[in-house]
Amino acid sequence: MHAPSSAPRLGSVISGELVRPVAPRVLQSRNPANLGEVVAELELADAATYVRACRAARDGQPGWAALPPPLRGRVVQQVGRLVEANKEALAALVTREVGKPWRESLGEVQEVIDTCTFFLGEGRRLYGQTVPSEMPDKQLFTFRRPLGVVAVVTAANFPVAVPSWYLVPALLCGNTVVWKPSEQAGAAAQALAELFWHGGVPQTALHLVQADGAATFAGLEQALDAGLVDKLGFTGSTAVGRRLGELTGRHLQAACLELGGKNPLVVAPDADLDLAVEGALFSGFGTAGQRCTSLGTAIVQAGVYDDFVERFHRAASAARIGDPRQDVLYGPLIGEGYLKRFEEFLGMVADYHKLYGSTGVGRITRDNPREGLVGDPDAGLYVHPTVVAGITGGDDLYRLETFGPIVGVARYDTFDEAVELANGHGYGLSAAVYTNDPRTAFQFRERCTAGMVSVNNSTSGAEAHLPFGGNGLSGNGSRQSGMWVLEQFTSWQAMNWDYSGRLQKAQMDVIEPPSDLDYRLS
Ligand code: UN1
Repeated sequence: MHAPSSAPRLGSVISGELVRPVAPRVLQSRNPANLGEVVAELELADAATYVRACRAARDGQPGWAALPPPLRGRVVQQVGRLVEANKEALAALVTREVGKPWRESLGEVQEVIDTCTFFLGEGRRLYGQTVPSEMPDKQLFTFRRPLGVVAVVTAANFPVAVPSWYLVPALLCGNTVVWKPSEQAGAAAQALAELFWHGGVPQTALHLVQADGAATFAGLEQALDAGLVDKLGFTGSTAVGRRLGELTGRHLQAACLELGGKNPLVVAPDADLDLAVEGALFSGFGTAGQRCTSLGTAIVQAGVYDDFVERFHRAASAARIGDPRQDVLYGPLIGEGYLKRFEEFLGMVADYHKLYGSTGVGRITRDNPREGLVGDPDAGLYVHPTVVAGITGGDDLYRLETFGPIVGVARYDTFDEAVELANGHGYGLSAAVYTNDPRTAFQFRERCTAGMVSVNNSTSGAEAHLPFGGNGLSGNGSRQSGMWVLEQFTSWQAMNWDYSGRLQKAQMDVIEPPSDLDYRLS
């Protein structure tokens, strides 16, 4: 069908060695803004190769953990420097492979750098505690221990930033890593892994497996059975996260699960409407709505509802969409599968809904044009932004995560209704409220079940050193980023040292300080 491409052939790299499958299944990673362009050809690994990578990671772990944490921090520092020196090249690859607008891709690479900057210092902290004992001549301590081998499975929408949230702290803590990136982003993954290896992460400490979901699941199952994996970090859909949570739970492990979202943005009657519209536009349509933190439903007070819908319509209609190398709000969808699913979401629009935001619905083509599209509509996977007004709590569009540039708008009367709509779908990742009343802001913070709350700001775009993660259908309560993620990649070891020269039994040999409990003030 297609002419042989000159794109690089990539595959799994285990202990620095490119592992060729016996019967390679080759997948082409294509530029979603220019489907004729093959970015890379990926040789997909089988389950046995995945297990082999886990075994190599197991073998490499003691050596890596033996490097003192400050030196592991130094390696993280060098990785960060190298990523910074290659910032534009890596961002360009992200844009080419997943269609992310150039400025966002630069921001994504910056997030990798920020993550390294944060954790390089952690190499010199990684604190334990000294704790007083209830007995004399005895001292208590706590130490953080690495877990061992961490399996990381990541999605295509943040092909380098989100992986770095796992890789950097996991490695810093003394674990080794087997990373399975999305098949849609194999070239960006190879590039990021190269920067880690060249920055000083030993090839025995970081292994890259390019595989599809089925082979990865089977490989992970076998590796867990063989005792080769101690922790799973997964970013992706709730459905897959549920299966992975079950699998790891059977092995008494608590995976770090970062799953979907149906993120609400509440607009209170006192909100600055222009600001709220700007926030809704970026939350809903930035990254073509393909973030786990993307806006799902704007929940707008009845008094400002019509005004909001009208302004949102105008803003979405005027937004520049198209070639991600240009200054656009969003580029193409990541891949064909994303387009298919997006079309399914559009099928959930009911006759009582009203559509806004563009000159058409669905894929942008010459026959279904978008006014002002930047670039050639037929070259890429471009879709119209869609605002669906009149969403109610009973709609599928209210209940389900809809990955892509589609945003619902629901109306509420009382604050209680707003909170009910913000929580009622069962996801709990990110939520925003637009208000100028501190009471509304804090009451919303208190009553909304999301792991992250924005006030007068987008649902997306969390800073890289705050705890990131969700509740309910969005995850199992695990948190990434900042110092909080250390709980994911270390376990606490308590130590007690008795230097009294005799056996002092806790609770039993403890002296009771004298007191006179009959004493009363006269
Ligand atoms: C994701 O979509 O998986 O907060 C992560 C944000 C980004 C990360 C999104 N920093 O929107």
